[in-house]
Amino acid sequence: MTEKDFLPNPYTNLPAKGKVTWKAPSNIALVKYWGKKANQIPANPSISFTLDACATTTSVSYTKKEDISQLSFDLFFEGKPKEDFKPKILTFFERIEAYLPFLKAYHFKIETSNSFPHSSGIASSASGMAALALCLVEIERTINRDITDTFFKKKASFLARLGSGSACRSIEGDLIQWGEYAGISESSNLYGINYPFEVNAIFKNFHDSILLVHKGQKQVSSSLGHDLMHDHPYAERRFTQAHENLDKLKKVFESGNLDDFIKIVESEALTLHAMMMTSMPYFVLMKPDTLEIINKIWAFREATKVPICFTLDAGANVHVLYPESVKEKAIQFIQDELVVHCENGHYICDKIGQGAMSK
Ligand code: PMV
Repeated sequence: MTEKDFLPNPYTNLPAKGKVTWKAPSNIALVKYWGKKANQIPANPSISFTLDACATTTSVSYTKKEDISQLSFDLFFEGKPKEDFKPKILTFFERIEAYLPFLKAYHFKIETSNSFPHSSGIASSASGMAALALCLVEIERTINRDITDTFFKKKASFLARLGSGSACRSIEGDLIQWGEYAGISESSNLYGINYPFEVNAIFKNFHDSILLVHKGQKQVSSSLGHDLMHDHPYAERRFTQAHENLDKLKKVFESGNLDDFIKIVESEALTLHAMMMTSMPYFVLMKPDTLEIINKIWAFREATKVPICFTLDAGANVHVLYPESVKEKAIQFIQDELVVHCENGHYICDKIGQGAMSK
């Protein structure tokens, strides 16, 4: 499919008003997306677990308006007007307007809330943009009833990507791949797809305990981070490595070999941070507690052989990944040894999830 396939035919009748609500989860990348080209095209393919508990719920009420020359919307976050989110939403609306030509015909009231605490350092852009994109495609579906379920999800992923790249992986569950990659013929730079190959049962109920090491604003926004990959000395090698890691993961997903899974996932996390440390300007996004946690996970794994590992986002928080079979041991270890490194002892127990839901 190309961008053009997401341009709708002219609409014949627009309803006067209505309201739609979607809940979309966050996701955690195993092979990281870091670096992009124009129009939110990823520089390398990525793959993620869709999460379950960390989610954004968004309602969009729409009322037809007289003046169709401009975009118009109000934004409420957790019940209160949120002016500082508006520029991001406006940019998003402008980017997607060609694909949803009804946008200027309505005034929108967007009400959004997160299941995870505000300023937890967990990025809400993936779940937030996914929930909003789903609401907007839902409105389109009330105008054009011919939209199939498959197209609906593809278009939601396509639009979410234009809001925040990784958001295109937050529409469906449970293992989502995004970005052109020779190993998957149906892979696309435009939207996420369900990982199409065999996946061992061990990965079907994986857990992700998110340790909130630092709840403040991210030191580097992801837009700036992606930009840093432009004149980066190691960028090309890194982009190739993402393809290689997807090749390696194919075997791992089939076999359920957790030793190999751990090597790839931890290396991806450290590579993401290494890219940040070796860019110009350079950043260290880990905090001392991030490193303490990593070292404790390594020591615990070595001593107990419990297959528990970590991954990182572009920040200091640590995602601790482990299979269902070691859940009790992992949670005990987190409580005994890792919680002391979390800001105010906060962590969130999440697990792999099945994707967004209409409410
Ligand atoms: O979706 P963005 O532009 O916020 O980028 C997110 C990038 C990482 O979270 C660091 C990696 C990923 O693939 O999710």
